[in-house]
Amino acid sequence: MCGIVGYLGKGNTLDILMESLKRLEYRGYDSAGIAVFHKGRIEIRRCQGKIWDLECSLKGERLDGHLGIGHTRWATHGRPSEENAHPHKSGKVAVVHNGIIENYVTLKEVLIKEGRHFRSETDSEIIAHLIDKFIEEGLSFEEAVRKAMKKVKGSYALAILYEGAPDTLIAVRKESPLIVGIGKDECFVASDIPAILKYTRNMIFLEDEDIAVLSPRGVKITDLEGKKITRQPKEIQWDPVLAEKGGYKHFMLKEIHEQPRAVTDTIRGRISLNKGELFLEDIQLSAKTLKALKRIVIVACGTSWHAALIGKFILEELCRIPVEVDLGSEFRYRDPIMNKDTLLMLISQSGETADTLAALREGKKKQVKSLSICNVVDSSLARGSDGIIYTRAGPEIGVASTKAFTTQLIALYLFSLYLAQVQGKIKKEGIKELLKELVKLPRLMEEVLAGDHEIERIAKKYVNCRDFLYLARSINYPIALEGALKLKEISYIHAEGYPAGEMKHGPIALIDEDMPVMVLFTRDKTCEKVLGNIEEVKARSGKLIVVTTEKDKEVLRKADDIISIPKTNPLLTPAVFVIPLQLFAYHMAVLRGTDIDQPRNLAKSVTVE
Ligand code: AGP
Repeated sequence: MCGIVGYLGKGNTLDILMESLKRLEYRGYDSAGIAVFHKGRIEIRRCQGKIWDLECSLKGERLDGHLGIGHTRWATHGRPSEENAHPHKSGKVAVVHNGIIENYVTLKEVLIKEGRHFRSETDSEIIAHLIDKFIEEGLSFEEAVRKAMKKVKGSYALAILYEGAPDTLIAVRKESPLIVGIGKDECFVASDIPAILKYTRNMIFLEDEDIAVLSPRGVKITDLEGKKITRQPKEIQWDPVLAEKGGYKHFMLKEIHEQPRAVTDTIRGRISLNKGELFLEDIQLSAKTLKALKRIVIVACGTSWHAALIGKFILEELCRIPVEVDLGSEFRYRDPIMNKDTLLMLISQSGETADTLAALREGKKKQVKSLSICNVVDSSLARGSDGIIYTRAGPEIGVASTKAFTTQLIALYLFSLYLAQVQGKIKKEGIKELLKELVKLPRLMEEVLAGDHEIERIAKKYVNCRDFLYLARSINYPIALEGALKLKEISYIHAEGYPAGEMKHGPIALIDEDMPVMVLFTRDKTCEKVLGNIEEVKARSGKLIVVTTEKDKEVLRKADDIISIPKTNPLLTPAVFVIPLQLFAYHMAVLRGTDIDQPRNLAKSVTVE
């Protein structure tokens, strides 16, 4: 969950490392550090805190080497502190690491017995010791890295420097993402695309157990046995401007406002409104495979799991195929039943979430076809799946997922229609009708965004509340979960999302005059029941905020506050309902003065279990 970077070239190494690290801060931000070759020595600067703190601690110091590595940390082993911050150095070797070394305790014991002295509590430090030890024993830098990698178990993305090789940077990965960027007379290493997008669009995506040796002679990639591997660079089309705040106070707010554009991009080129057809050939699953499907299992984590829950409603309604949804962290531990008629779908913004990737591996073990919905081009998930539908949200930097979520819903909608089309479950006229609604969606989203000041006003009223309950039913119930998650993660207010019908089975006990309840109300087959829930909340003096598509007098009379949203097709309603909930969480967090883009204890990509 940490971010690592590396640079080799004639540019200002320190500035490039700091700039790249800032773009990776969403991956972790409890401590940071850099190592730069300066006058033939590796100089390390690290501190507890954010990149900003590191910048301040450098106080304009000039380290003018042409080679360096950097790290922003999300603590797994050892509390956030300067000693535990990366880079870790042993002898002449400095290392930055993202991942977890599972056998570090055993390795550390052996190294301590051999007389090595450890300075941190981290698992990462053993890597520097191992490489240094093998170099001392006579191996070359590259051979030593290879030998060390054969000893360690777990996940890693590493950038490594050795004082004996002042023009070489070695990068290696296993189960943690790592990219090599190729510029003109310079090259880069980074955990993620946005970190180096400002400098180059040509990127090589390293595979597990690739070792990349970067030097002025170019980039050489080998496997752990030293066998040469050819990996072609890919040109990344993302606009670097998308990774900037563009005048917004926070990335999260910018990304909330980008949703109409992101949805439009995700639809573009994939539908014909006139013909009532969908073109999703890029998913790379044959019509034969899709026709034979009898069951779908969707696996994801966090917000992506909420999208999966909505996907179940859409797929079952349009395709009449049974859909099961599971959490990545649970899936592989229950020996899931899947056979050749099952499609395993994985949903992930980053494509690097450890539990979702583990689900993909579980699917491969059981030989089922996989289809991913993913935002990050060429991420581990995208590369490992049989088929892929890219959401075209662009880089999402705010830790709280917003535009990735709505575009996941669009991808699910498009895939459901496509599958229904392939399986002959829907007529062209039916597709036309549903697509007509889909293309109107960005405009409806704009309408909701235009009402932001009202949501801000409501947030001011409730800013001191300690708990929140979110209720909804049917396809919108996962939006109650998502609204509660957004509020929790960025404002640190305790919030629970519930399917409204469950209220009587427990949460009703919480309701009193201090408990605001956010109810999502729309006229569907469960609306009478939700009206009942509204009455029950009021009867217990609960404060009621109603988000609604309706002008229903009865509801409006009961509500303490109302957020009106436009009507759309019921299958698309979640994509509209979620926007006021994102804005509400945002304003609550602003009012409470929390760190919105980098909330405490969280990281954007959860690349460890
Ligand atoms: C959402 O706001 C989160 N920060 C988190 O739940 C996230 O959705 C989850 O970690 C899954 O990430 P992914 O989509 O990159 O796999």
